[in-house]
Amino acid sequence: MRVPLLDLSEQYRALSQEIRAATGEVLASQRFILGPRLAAFERAVAEYCGVPYAIGVSSGTDALLAVLMALEIGLGDAVITTAYSFFATSGCIARVGATPVFIDIDPDTYNISTTGLKRYIDKDCQRVEGKLVNKNRQTIRALIPVHLFGLCCEMNEMLAVAREHNLLLIEDAAQAIGAEYQLENGPAKAGTMGDAGCFSFYPSKNLGAAGDAGLVVCGNEQFADRLRLCRQHGMEARYQHQFIGGNFRLDELQAAILQVKLPHLDGWSAARRKAAKFYSNEFRRVGLHKKIKLPVEPYVESGLKNHHIYHQYVIRSPRRDELRQHLSQREIETAIYYPLALHEQPCFEYLGYKADNFPEAERAARDTLALPIYPEISREAQQYVVKGVAEFFE
Ligand SMILES: Cc1ncc(COP(=O)(O)O)c(C=O)c1O
Repeated sequence: MRVPLLDLSEQYRALSQEIRAATGEVLASQRFILGPRLAAFERAVAEYCGVPYAIGVSSGTDALLAVLMALEIGLGDAVITTAYSFFATSGCIARVGATPVFIDIDPDTYNISTTGLKRYIDKDCQRVEGKLVNKNRQTIRALIPVHLFGLCCEMNEMLAVAREHNLLLIEDAAQAIGAEYQLENGPAKAGTMGDAGCFSFYPSKNLGAAGDAGLVVCGNEQFADRLRLCRQHGMEARYQHQFIGGNFRLDELQAAILQVKLPHLDGWSAARRKAAKFYSNEFRRVGLHKKIKLPVEPYVESGLKNHHIYHQYVIRSPRRDELRQHLSQREIETAIYYPLALHEQPCFEYLGYKADNFPEAERAARDTLALPIYPEISREAQQYVVKGVAEFFE
């Protein structure tokens, strides 16, 4: 039996008529850029997330880049983020000329460690004229937690740190659209808890476009206006550029497709959660939870439905590479997110980090493995995966 990591064909079959009709309308209209479908999709996402403003952009990466550019974060600034994630977050920080500052992760959730964050600020930073400045005399302007694999970071703590030290809080919610978190003042969706939230609609995401697409949400009208200019080269009146932005627009075809898919997102997240529960129950039933570490659900008691949306179902084992090979021989596809911690990336050598600086991130890069998960995955396929893992440890 072949089990792919992700199979979106069933999802497409179910929606193909609607998608063809929606894209057909766009093609008939011949309006491809900044038209009514984008505006409608932006309204729908804003409503879904419970925020006033949503600005569609060309990708999750460009969402992060546009936010950093619009906030005028750049040379001489530093931005704190996690040492273990997809490259885009730290790549964008570096692209605007700022310095990424990495913090180790929590080994259970794989998200940025709250204690690690506080330790860095206490040990390596000081307050100078109301600003938080690190040992390299860079001003810490912002904090970008990444809600990895569909689970929110400890946002009450992130917000408290951001408030105390006057930092901008930008959420990288690329993997977490719809995930919920219990803030001190009530439940909130990923991306809506800080100053801006960035989403990716890369095709394999829980809400995926038919190409690249992304979006920013925020609660501040002026900032939303600035982001709208930023996605058009900072242009206000035609060919009058107020500041330097980029071509970060989300096109009408992608917006039309995403608009068809959005109403199904919560159903898909529920199906992913069900599949995750099935894996975890089965692994426990056969005693494998003693051999592999299963994903944790730290917010299950919150009562929030989307306390985890399982963008990925990630297990860990010190024998990860052998296990992966064993599964591959049985035609079970798996993935490694991510094989290197960010401070280990060759392009970040100039930052001067050393091996061992972030032991949990390094360990996660060596021993985590993502198993097949998607809303339509069959229990039979999952059982085959569990059997494959069990055989390996026999
Ligand atoms: C955590 C994270 N941040 C940012 C991105 C960038 O999104 P995109 O691929 O749409 O540029 C991704 C997605 O790949 C991601 O997983």
